[in-house]
Amino acid sequence: MPSHFFQIGDEPHKKFTEWARSLGDIYSVQLGQQNLIILTSDKIVGELLQKRGAKYSTRMNGSGFEILTRGKGYAASPYNERYRKINPITSAKTKDGFYPKYFFQHTALNIISLLCFNKRTDSVDDPFYREFENLMGTRFELAKDTISASLTWLTAALANNPHVQSKAHQELDRVIGQSRMPEVSDEQNIPYIRAIIKEGQRYCGAIYLGVPHAIDEDDEYNGYHIPANSVVILNQYGIHMDEKRYENPKEFKPERFLGFTGSSAALANGNYENRDHFGFGAGRRLCTGIHMAERELLLGVSRLLWCFKIENASPLGKDGKPIPINLDKIRNGLTVWPEDYKVRFVKMLKRFYPDRVKS
Ligand code: HEM
Repeated sequence: MPSHFFQIGDEPHKKFTEWARSLGDIYSVQLGQQNLIILTSDKIVGELLQKRGAKYSTRMNGSGFEILTRGKGYAASPYNERYRKINPITSAKTKDGFYPKYFFQHTALNIISLLCFNKRTDSVDDPFYREFENLMGTRFELAKDTISASLTWLTAALANNPHVQSKAHQELDRVIGQSRMPEVSDEQNIPYIRAIIKEGQRYCGAIYLGVPHAIDEDDEYNGYHIPANSVVILNQYGIHMDEKRYENPKEFKPERFLGFTGSSAALANGNYENRDHFGFGAGRRLCTGIHMAERELLLGVSRLLWCFKIENASPLGKDGKPIPINLDKIRNGLTVWPEDYKVRFVKMLKRFYPDRVKS
């Protein structure tokens, strides 16, 4: 049986998007015995996953997805090493910068953990959570790693775009002030922060190729035959980088979402044309945690920016400025991560010492 396995390479989202631009918004790929249908337009996703949701909402066990991600799910590092990586934000040794992934993972784990067990943990390697993670499998990863990966990407994007941070800081100064941190109830009054979060999901979300759907009966769409037992992939990356849908898609530009006042959850259940992005999937298997995710991201991003200015701590380039963090290179898995990078979280002194600093 013909197989496209070797053609797909290490960056399936890019290969699928390249093929979509030449073959069209729906085409099939053969991976060993498994047929994959790749969807790369808002319209087709809306027509199939949403409107024909009854057919397109199963999941496939086994091969399809493992092959696609090459089994590179999130791998644990030894306790001590990781524990030290979580810590730098609270230690004084932040001058050289640090990679915030482990800090965000720890925070996301604690939120889930407080909700499920009413307890906190000191480390992402606590045996209790390891056991729970093994039992829950992908579900736990979807709850913990998606949030932390989103924040890890967004931190890098913000470090690369200080002008976006200044606008966010101005909004927080104006709406929240210096004496308290942002709350969920501030949501409607901080549109720029909300736009940053939406742009983060579009530009560098935690998942690039969705969580595969599957179909267990034959279907026809616009003259295409979709055979039973195909895995159906929502190529989020391809849609998010489609210049017909988003002007200058390679630019990190929260302003494009300022007109979107609805939550991603509300927009995901409406017409596909009006959706902000496809970061939470589509149809009946849309992310179950979407409401919680949006709240966590709102609090995470607004409080991070209320407390800190994020500085790129990469080595300096020829122009004397830190070399921009490369957001094009990813580490593949169910959730995708940027390569290691370094940032500094610089305290917004006027918030911490309002008496000593003039704003
Ligand atoms: C930024 C954060 C998150 C992102 C980007 C995200 C993204 C996704 C995506 C793309 C899917 C697949 C949707 C589809 O099949 O069309 C999904 C499914 C799922 N997510 Fe999330 N998710 C996030 C946070 C969370 C959280 C916080 C939870 C739990 C509290 C969660 C629980 C789930 C579950 C249980 C599913 C499986 C739904 C099903 O198969 O029916 N997710 N998520």
